[in-house]
Amino acid sequence: MPSKLGRTESANPTNVAAESKLPTGAYAPAERALRYKNTLALAEQIKTVIPGGVDSPFRAFHEVGGEAVFFDKASGSKLTDVDGNTYIDYLGAWGPAILGHAPEAVVTAACAVMKDGAVFGAPHKLELALAERVSRALPSVESVRFVNSGTEAVMSAVRLARAFTGREKILMFAGGYHGHSDSVLASTGHQSSTGILKASQESTLLAEYNDLLSVEDLFQRDAGSIAAILVEPVCGSMGVVTPGEGFLAGLKAIAERHGALLIFDEVITGFRVAYGGAQNLYGIKPDLTCLGKALGGGMPIGAYGGSRQIMSQLMPEGAVYQAGTFSGNPVTMAGGVATLDLLKDESHYLRMEARASELFAGLSKLKTKAGYPIELQRQGSMFGIIFAGGPVRNFTESKTIDAPAFARFFHYLLDKGVYLPPSPFDAAVLSSAHSREDIETTLAQMEPALDFAFNG
Ligand SMILES: Cc1ncc(COP(=O)(O)O)c(C=O)c1O
Repeated sequence: MPSKLGRTESANPTNVAAESKLPTGAYAPAERALRYKNTLALAEQIKTVIPGGVDSPFRAFHEVGGEAVFFDKASGSKLTDVDGNTYIDYLGAWGPAILGHAPEAVVTAACAVMKDGAVFGAPHKLELALAERVSRALPSVESVRFVNSGTEAVMSAVRLARAFTGREKILMFAGGYHGHSDSVLASTGHQSSTGILKASQESTLLAEYNDLLSVEDLFQRDAGSIAAILVEPVCGSMGVVTPGEGFLAGLKAIAERHGALLIFDEVITGFRVAYGGAQNLYGIKPDLTCLGKALGGGMPIGAYGGSRQIMSQLMPEGAVYQAGTFSGNPVTMAGGVATLDLLKDESHYLRMEARASELFAGLSKLKTKAGYPIELQRQGSMFGIIFAGGPVRNFTESKTIDAPAFARFFHYLLDKGVYLPPSPFDAAVLSSAHSREDIETTLAQMEPALDFAFNG
C-alpha cells in the first residue's frame, strides 16, 4: 500500500528489522518504522541496561504489541515524542496530569521552592499547607501522611488497618490494582507476580466487584480475621467500572458490622472525579483513604489518611512504623498546593466534564451508526472505550474484552496522533487543558480507527 509519504513497504530495506517489530497501524510498516525511528533505536539500547526498557511494566506495550514510544516533552494536552510526532494525550501519565502537562502554576511553585533546597528530612510549612487542604476537601481525612507514591500509600494504609484491628486479612476485588506491594499484588486479576510469600497470598481475599454477596460470603468464612475491605470506589483497571447502586454503602455496612475498616483507594479518583474524590461524589465516608497521582499535579506523591484516632497509631505517636526520606518534600508539596489551589475552582471539573461528554457523545453516535461492539463507561474525566459486547461491571465481565481489536485501535490512533493507555483495561483520562478542538480532532480519527480495529 502506498503510504502518506509515497513510500512502499519495500522501499526502505534498512528498516526491515524495525518494521518486523511493529504491529499494524494506520500506515504501512516501512513508514511506521520511519515515523518511530528514534524511538525504535532507543528501545533497542535501553533494554541492555533497564529490564524490558521500562521502569514500570505498564509502560511497555505488552498488551498492544510493539515498542513503547519515547517522549521528549509535554505541554497541556499534547505530547511530543523523540521523532517529533505530536499526540493528543489521553494517558495523562496514568492520572497525575489533571491540569494537563507542565501546568504553569505547578512548575513555577515547584521551581521556586527547589531553589531553596529540595529536601530537608525535617518538617516544612508546605506539608502543613497541603495537609490542611486535603483534610478540608475530604471530611473523612482528619489527619494525613504524605508518601511518595500510590503504592506506598496503600501499603501503609494496609499495615495501619492490620495494626488497628489486630487482624491480618485484607479483602479486595478481582481485577483491582492497588500498587505493587506484596499484600495487594498477591492474587488480583490482570496483574500478578511471582516472588510473593505464600503467607501474603493467603492473607489476601478476593471478592467480585459490584457483588455484595461475594463480600458477605468471605466474611462468613473468615469472620474475625479480616482487617479491611480495600476498594477503588470507581475501578480504573478493568475498564472504568462505576459502583452499582448501594455497592459502596453496602461495603461500609458490612465492614462496620464485622469490625473491619473500609479503605478507599482513591489514588486515581481522588481530586479527579470530584474535588473531594469519589467519597464526596457518592457520599460515603471510608475509614482510611489513599491518594496519589492527581494530588501532585505531576509531582511524585502519595498520601493516606483517616480519623485522628486511627492515624495516631502511626509512629511516633503509636507503634506502626512508616517512614520515607523524600516523604513530604517541599518540592512535591509545593506542586500539590498549587494543584489543589487551581482545582478548587470548579471550572476545571466543568471543563473536563464538558470535554468528556463531547467525546462520548461522538463515540456513542459512531457506535449506533456502525454497531461497533464497544461499551462507553466513564466517571467524569476518567473514561473507558471498552472493547466488549456488553457492560463491564466486574472482573469476570472484563475477561470478555477483545484485546487484539483494542491493539489495532490503539496503534491506528497512535499513528494518527492520539495517545491512549497502551492497555485495553486501564482507564483513559483527560485534563482541564483539553480543548474542544482536541476532542473534535480525536473524534475525526475514531471512525477509521474503529473500522480498522474491527474490520482490519
Ligand atoms: C488505584 C491505584 N492504586 C494504587 C496505585 C499505585 O500507585 P503508584 O503507581 O503511584 O505507586 C495505582 C497506580 O496505577 C492505582 O491505579
